[in-house]
Amino acid sequence: KPAGLAKTPPMGWNSWNTFETNINEELVKKTADALVASGMKDAGYLYLVLDDGWMAKERDENGNLVPDPVKFPSGLPALIDYVHKKGLKFGLYNCAGTKTCAGYPGTRGYEYQDARFYAKLGIDFLKYDWCNTEGIQAKEAYTTMRNALAATKKPIIFSLCEWGDNQPWLWATDIGQMWRISGDIYPCFDCEYNHGTWSSWGVLRILEMRKDIRKYAGPDHFNDFDMLEVGNGMTAAEDRSHFALWCMMASPLIAGNDITKMNQQTRDLLTNRDLIAINQDELGLQGFKFHFENGIDYWAKPLANNQWAFAFLNRSESAAELNFDFSKWQITDPDFGHQFNAKQQVYEFKFLFENKTANTKRNLKTKIEAHDICVIRLREKK
Ligand code: GLA
Repeated sequence: KPAGLAKTPPMGWNSWNTFETNINEELVKKTADALVASGMKDAGYLYLVLDDGWMAKERDENGNLVPDPVKFPSGLPALIDYVHKKGLKFGLYNCAGTKTCAGYPGTRGYEYQDARFYAKLGIDFLKYDWCNTEGIQAKEAYTTMRNALAATKKPIIFSLCEWGDNQPWLWATDIGQMWRISGDIYPCFDCEYNHGTWSSWGVLRILEMRKDIRKYAGPDHFNDFDMLEVGNGMTAAEDRSHFALWCMMASPLIAGNDITKMNQQTRDLLTNRDLIAINQDELGLQGFKFHFENGIDYWAKPLANNQWAFAFLNRSESAAELNFDFSKWQITDPDFGHQFNAKQQVYEFKFLFENKTANTKRNLKTKIEAHDICVIRLREKK
């Protein structure tokens, strides 16, 4: 795979969570405009990705994919040009199987032909799903597509969407820049939504779905906690926690709401520079949970230059008091060895949702509302 395409977690927008297959060129143009006007592009959201549903139901007589001519009457080249001229990047979706999850032509058996098609279009990102894959092996299928993309010599981010059953974190480091670790996200805090033969999952379910996989993630190879549901119906506190946690986990930040209609609160959260800086930290390390007490999860993420981010998540249904005595904590990153030791070293810190600073000589005492989160960024006091 080409090196350095995703030194930090990719950021962008994807059509699926809000629009499913109801996508078209007007939506893409308005979304591109809104990414710029809202400040999201400046905050780092560069990839505009069309998910399932962009194709016609059949390939043409030469086996080429056909963009849906009703949804995209001006054609994809003109649309991609529009997106690129805004300073954004453009992505598409397909699937390793015979058909996509929504029943459009899949790539199985057409890997090199489809890769050439994408290269000619000039796309920058490919999300590659795992429906209708009976009889094929995940590692092999994703490797074939990686090779097909590499043969085009174009810098295309390859985003694996395998849902974690085949443990891509064990084998995809050199295949893609990111891999899904779970089934689909659902806009609820802590639920399982049953679709009949499969389920999608609330924020806390995805957060806790895999154990011990953070050691497999890092620059250019991230665990993907799935696209964001910020602005899609959870409470303000839940949206804050969801976004902050995805930042703490160094997950790709792919917005999944309607950017053209979002309110100020959603926009402010998605463009929170301090949280994004935690996500985009150059170490590229996923956070880890180091404690649970009184309904509150304690998460830590090592950052470059001996800095840290801590997040205190109130999972419970009622407000909880946090009383954190830094001097009692010596924290060692279980996979990468980074050390936090407030006994030997005073840290200054900033609260990322409140305009406040403090240091670790005194306890951090604060009330955290139900499902809300308190995030701080610490640096060593000189
Ligand atoms: C799967 C993926 C989703 C989305 C849909 C499209 O469920 O996990 O993210 O791409 O397919 O059909």
